[in-house]
Amino acid sequence: MEERSVREIDVRGKRVLLRVDFNVPLDVGTGSISDDHRIRASLPTIQYLVDCGAKVIICSHLGRPKGKVVEGLSLKPVAERLSRIMGLPVRMAGDCVGDEVKREARELEGGKILLLENVRFHPEEEANDPGFACSLAGLADVYVDDAFGTAHRAHASTVGVSRYLPSAAGFLMEKELDAMGNLLHDYEHPFACLIGGAKVSDKIGLLQNMLKKIDILLVGGGMAATFLRAEGYETGFSLVEKDKLNKARELLDDAHALHVSFRLPCDVLVSREIRKGSPCEVVPIESIPDDGCIVDIGPKTVELFCRKLTGCRTVMWNGPMGIYEIPEFSQGTKLMVDFISKLDAVTVVGGGSSAEIVHQMGLSEKMTHVSTGGGATLRFLEGTVLPGVEVLRKET
Ligand code: 3PG
Repeated sequence: MEERSVREIDVRGKRVLLRVDFNVPLDVGTGSISDDHRIRASLPTIQYLVDCGAKVIICSHLGRPKGKVVEGLSLKPVAERLSRIMGLPVRMAGDCVGDEVKREARELEGGKILLLENVRFHPEEEANDPGFACSLAGLADVYVDDAFGTAHRAHASTVGVSRYLPSAAGFLMEKELDAMGNLLHDYEHPFACLIGGAKVSDKIGLLQNMLKKIDILLVGGGMAATFLRAEGYETGFSLVEKDKLNKARELLDDAHALHVSFRLPCDVLVSREIRKGSPCEVVPIESIPDDGCIVDIGPKTVELFCRKLTGCRTVMWNGPMGIYEIPEFSQGTKLMVDFISKLDAVTVVGGGSSAEIVHQMGLSEKMTHVSTGGGATLRFLEGTVLPGVEVLRKET
């Protein structure tokens, strides 16, 4: 790989600024961490630094506080969780810059961990302000970036700091770049993508790029409605992105020209209302009622998609097949994820809600790779060089 690795720089006894993506989902009611996989995913890097006797100064964002201090988006619960998982004390700083933090960073002993407060409490973070980046960099001797999930953001703590410190990729960053990079450059055929989620607009770039590589494209989820409409089907009151109908047609044509087998659902679950307990029925796509909304793929589609995936050597899944949050509409997604987890193939789950589903289903270990990135994964698969990765390249 072209990025400098944490193994290649001397971190022994050094103050290391480690950027991680601890933007973990929080329970709406209690504010507690509902999925700590992003914390666990960076443990190998943190443990390595601790074992090297480095003074580990961790920074991350949490949520979108828009440059203001938002109590509910403090990283304090993350410090507690990290400490519990590692069985080590994790000191929580009151801020991420300023004299007090400087003192804490200076006094930190080798092998000890200091977690800085949410970098997005300062508007300068997202503005990639050089002064702010310089202040963050001033806390350390070396910068290690493990935040693949934030690498698509050119912010002070993901890009700016690298101007002031020797920089390297952590183990999670390396693992993500290897696994996701293989999907772009080193994959075995037949290669299939199963794509879902609410909107086509979020995934146009990914579809365009992946069509050049794959053999099979299966589309479910809310976004299938736009493709079905482009194919001339009635889709009830399902969300159809009218301004993307031409693009959908273009993608269908491109798939045809590239000999990619592009399959849409042949039957769907429709409901008159989008709420728990609302009555729903399976209908063929030719019979979607005017007052119905597509909420999941149907059993024949599950069968069709599973048949298409059988024998594939590489499978990438991103995006639920229906409105997963509502249990009655989650069946199609669950059946597909379960099927993929049993395939004898390289199976990669593009992050965000897809990763959460795999974790909830207890199937993470059965997949080759479950990405910690959401937007970053999508941008990466579009073929974009992520700004947070570019700065780790050896020539920079
Ligand atoms: C994510 O969850 O995708 C990353 O942490 C980036 O968060 P953001 O979309 O708020 O920049």
